[in-house]
Amino acid sequence: AGQFAVFGHPIAHSLSPQIHQVFGKQFGIALEYRTIDASPAEFEASVRRFFAEGGVGANVTLPHKTAAFALADQRSEAAMRAGSANVLTRLPDGRLAAHNTDGAGMVRDLTERHQVDLRGHDALLLGAGGAAHGVAWNLLDAGVNTLTIVNRSPEAADALADAIGEPARAHTRYWEDLANIDSYDLIVNATSAGVLGASLDLPFSLIGNRATCYDLSYGKAATGFLAWARAGNARYAFDGLGMLVETAADAFELWHGRRPDTDPVYLALRQQYG
Ligand code: ATR
Repeated sequence: AGQFAVFGHPIAHSLSPQIHQVFGKQFGIALEYRTIDASPAEFEASVRRFFAEGGVGANVTLPHKTAAFALADQRSEAAMRAGSANVLTRLPDGRLAAHNTDGAGMVRDLTERHQVDLRGHDALLLGAGGAAHGVAWNLLDAGVNTLTIVNRSPEAADALADAIGEPARAHTRYWEDLANIDSYDLIVNATSAGVLGASLDLPFSLIGNRATCYDLSYGKAATGFLAWARAGNARYAFDGLGMLVETAADAFELWHGRRPDTDPVYLALRQQYG
């Protein structure tokens, strides 16, 4: 079935090997899937070695998603617009194709698993880095009414809004003004504050009546944002664990041509992550 891996730095605690093994079992595919820790300086050489030595597909996580996009020979539309890739696939001629399944995975988790209809929602996107780029277009495609992008450094928010290029729907506000702006139906935390152990100190006034709050991370990194959402009476507060499983399923389908059932894996991981 070939060799697979996830590249990251750090990567030891990645759930991807476990998820892909369970998916493989659903189809009786015995696959070899390992973690590869590569520093940014080693990343490209490490990827090229992996594929030269029989690698078929790789997942890519922090901090390598932009580098993965840059080294590929072919890029999916989702990867092009995000400017980053979370999946690399070896083409039959040995060249590498980059994909980005993050946004699709998040929207599928929200709309299918959690049954949230995003159409007509006014959405607030916190952050304008790699993770925010990975989901912004998918939120618009899913039918949100407006997308307001707020980032600590306003230049990055402006750059993302400019790249989207739909000023009537996607625009920016200043982080300093969060206390004075409207409430939202959907609030997506795409900052790395939680991962870095920092708190965001957001006003409850952002949380609209019946709002959904979603953190792209999970585990300890998501705790602060989700606690804020619950304290502010959000209707739903979700972490990104389901997104992780959905993005893994997209990678699995790219590599194996079959769509795994994500629910059993999600439920098993949920037991672990509370
Ligand atoms: P990722 O790939 O996780 O998105 P990134 O591209 O480095 O990582 O982006 C990190 C994002 O989190 C940025 O939007 C960053 O804001 P700045 O552009 O102002 O740096 C945001 N971020 C990180 N720590 C933050 C904090 N303590 N408060 C608010 N935003 C924070």
